[in-house]
Amino acid sequence: MCGIVGAVALRNVTPILLEGLHRLEYRGYDSAGLALLNRQGGLQRVRAMGKVAELEKALATSPAKGHLGIAHTRWATHGKPAEHNAHPHLSERLAVVHNGIIENHASLRRKLTELGYSFNSDTDTEVIAHLLAHHYQHKQDLLSAFRATLNELHGAYALGVIHQDEPDNLYCARMGSPLVIGVGSEEQFIASDPLALLQVTDQFIYLEEGDHARLTLAGHEVWSSNNQVLSYPVKRYEHAAHSLDKGEYRHFMLKEIFEQPKAIADTLEGKLADNQVLTAILGPEAENRLADIQNIHIVACGTSYHAGLVARYWIEEQAGIACQVEVASEYRYRTVSVPANTLLVTISQSGETADTLAALRYAKKQNYLGTLAICNVAGSSLVREAGWRLLTQAGPEIGVASTKAFTTQLVALLWLTTALAQAKQRAPEIINANVRALRNLPGLVEQVLQLEPGIEQLAQSFAGKHHALFLGRGPHYPVAMEGALKLKEISYIHAEAYAAGELKHGPLALVDEDMPVVSVAPSDSLLEKLKSNLEEVRARGGQLINFACERAGLETSEGVTHIELPWVYDSVSPIVYTLPLQLLSYHVALVKGTDVDKPRNLAKSVTVE
Ligand code: F6R
Repeated sequence: MCGIVGAVALRNVTPILLEGLHRLEYRGYDSAGLALLNRQGGLQRVRAMGKVAELEKALATSPAKGHLGIAHTRWATHGKPAEHNAHPHLSERLAVVHNGIIENHASLRRKLTELGYSFNSDTDTEVIAHLLAHHYQHKQDLLSAFRATLNELHGAYALGVIHQDEPDNLYCARMGSPLVIGVGSEEQFIASDPLALLQVTDQFIYLEEGDHARLTLAGHEVWSSNNQVLSYPVKRYEHAAHSLDKGEYRHFMLKEIFEQPKAIADTLEGKLADNQVLTAILGPEAENRLADIQNIHIVACGTSYHAGLVARYWIEEQAGIACQVEVASEYRYRTVSVPANTLLVTISQSGETADTLAALRYAKKQNYLGTLAICNVAGSSLVREAGWRLLTQAGPEIGVASTKAFTTQLVALLWLTTALAQAKQRAPEIINANVRALRNLPGLVEQVLQLEPGIEQLAQSFAGKHHALFLGRGPHYPVAMEGALKLKEISYIHAEAYAAGELKHGPLALVDEDMPVVSVAPSDSLLEKLKSNLEEVRARGGQLINFACERAGLETSEGVTHIELPWVYDSVSPIVYTLPLQLLSYHVALVKGTDVDKPRNLAKSVTVE
């Protein structure tokens, strides 16, 4: 998705802006640009299609320097990817960068056209530039003009603005799209993601919805939507210690797959005692209400939704609590019936996913007992707005395809299930077994990652394939869904997951020798049922690839490949069986030669609806 970086400093800010844009590249974008102000040359703008490297090339031919600047990576929403649609957009002596969508852009464009403004792009953003220029003409004061502009915008925005008439001031605002202020020593920054600024500061102010601010060398002033002066604490960025380069790995995705033992151990730190889970981490209010929870609604998107689907099996079976799981884009627009004592759980890696955030806001107006965010980013909007929080500690996830964020979400959800079982005084064996399994999990994950060479070899058999089926039963059905999503997003092979029992109700018609069928076959109570479903596939000539427990006793025959996993305790099995599926999709993508870390058309953090 789009990214924003801005800076005001004594030094030339061009390198800071470019480095910031590079750090946001992982989010997905189609063009990049920047605008700079210096006291000699006035306002300069440079834009380029494609990668930030193209912008750097353009800057080599038309160098631009300045002590004040804003920069942007664009992911097209209104107007195709093209240089004339790239940000910043200009109007008279000002420049604007924008993330989000202005919903009333069409009516504003009509109004501004009638006022004599001509448009050079197809974007919704250009209306902001002209609207601000229009208000400035009348008010002759940029802050008042900025406020008048914000009052007319409907939709979502994070904005950065510079104006030639105020060469020491950087203006910004947020509504529905994230924006932080980075605090330096005699220099100040803005960014849509703190990661963009970690090379210059680890001190941040997280703006709230509707806030706007003015930054100068000396500091910052922040105001609420009704122009009240605000004073927020400056917070240290918690993931600052994590390395943001690929190190010895060929791709971020592979690095992140291999970081899972540590990410899981970090997520569990301080949460396990000998025979129980330590619930103080949830805070006193949440801790005291756990026993009252009678229903759970889980809402999330994509991979995070799959984590919720796995958790439903755990929560209903182990904690005895009714649980429903829904994608946020549906949940937010329907009338939800909320039984008494229901907890709303949102799950998100980024904590900025527009639909998940909107779902949380909607839920806060309903009669929920509480709202819990399970999230990987401590300073995110979701974490700040939810009543209760449970942080995963995966560290920054750069690859667009989520890997370590998913397994740490599962760890957090299994921990939550155990906490609920404990509060409800369910059988102590369940709690003891979960605690033991969670404690041993990082070592087990390490062991399973050693299966990589066999999986790499297997990936070759996908070379000419265009479709694949993934099968699982019980909590391994959502694991199969996650495997199919990983394969389609990074290798562009069309993949679908089915609950194995559903095969004969339709999808079996697709099975032939060109259709690889991947099964997730742990040694659990559903194994014998699954074996019958696999026989149905073999009988139709389907190529079977089984990720199976070494104790599953699956027979080897022509057209059947097994990758054997060690026996694992039932509860952690969905986490463990996710790993080979991640490795499979990674190696198939290598075979296909796709852009593993930045698959086409996708963005890392989906901050628009
Ligand atoms: C897939 C993937 C996406 C995200 C989804 C929600 O690999 O990463 O499906 O899971 O966009 O994102 P978060 O978890 O940030 O809310």
